[in-house]
Amino acid sequence: MSALLTVSGLDVALRTRKGPRPLVTGVGFTLERGGALGILGESGSGKSVTCRAVMGLLGEGFAVSGRAEFQGRDLLSLPPKAMRALCGKEIAMIMQHPLTSFDPLCPVGDQMAETLRFHLETGREAALEIARDALAAMHIKDPGHILTLYPHQLSGGMLQRVMIGLTLALQPALVIADEPTTALDSLTQFEIMKELVRIRESGRTSLIFISHDLGAMRMLVDTALVMHQGAPVEYGPAEAVFSRPQSDHARYLIETRNALTRRFMEYAGRRPGLDAARGCCRVAG
Ligand SMILES: Nc1ncnc2c1ncn2[C@@H]1O[C@H](COP(=O)(O)OP(=O)(O)OP(=O)(O)O)[C@@H](O)[C@H]1O
Ligand SMILES: [Mg+2]
Repeated sequence: MSALLTVSGLDVALRTRKGPRPLVTGVGFTLERGGALGILGESGSGKSVTCRAVMGLLGEGFAVSGRAEFQGRDLLSLPPKAMRALCGKEIAMIMQHPLTSFDPLCPVGDQMAETLRFHLETGREAALEIARDALAAMHIKDPGHILTLYPHQLSGGMLQRVMIGLTLALQPALVIADEPTTALDSLTQFEIMKELVRIRESGRTSLIFISHDLGAMRMLVDTALVMHQGAPVEYGPAEAVFSRPQSDHARYLIETRNALTRRFMEYAGRRPGLDAARGCCRVAG
């Protein structure tokens, strides 16, 4: 395997009147082609800021330094226009709240077609056909009808699937999924996880996956990075990090999460109404 993305010495600071306030310091990782990296850490540990920095999505209010070499180019020093061309086509992000990624005033089909036309340089009719196929590939029934609906007419899970369908249609080299299932119910989480596994198995797309769900993480990633207060505390093959964490913080985080999952499973075992959630956990674990 060869490296698709190599991040080194990544520092991010918030520019404030009193001077820069560090948010992320010294982050580094390598993502192999066709590989999957999981980033875990407690809330506020810098997972999203790291990914947004790599994608050039942080605004003027942030100072970003270091290197993020993607297919031979340093993303951190690319001009905004070149970065815009890469984002979507080569690097795509799946967000936690898909609704915020869509224009509420425009049917999802038109939005998908516009994105596809921009990146694939194709006509409107061809783009709509690709959009229909993309939804069908996500097991969405009656895709032609779904394309005519506005974002608010679709459930969160359905919108997330539309988002993933669009992402896959663009066949990016890298997908960054930042807590893509957090806002969804457990059955929909399971469906979305299946789609992420499909992305993984296609071997065409590399994945950076951010989640608080260790079970989901274990299903998907081959390498893991643990962050704490903006800094990396552990990095290595996922199985080693999850089974034999070396740093105190990674051990604490993983043991706490495992204990939480065990307690939830015991609780769900006593509550027949939680069968669906148990099913999801069982598959994910
Ligand atoms: N737009 C922003 N302006 C100022 N500070 C920010 C901004 N976005 C993030 N931060 C700060 O940067 C740090 C890292 O935040 P980040 O969103 O990366 O955490 P996270 O690990 O993704 O957490 P979560 O699991 O809750 O999503 C936090 O201290 C957060 O308050
Ligand atoms: Mg986050």
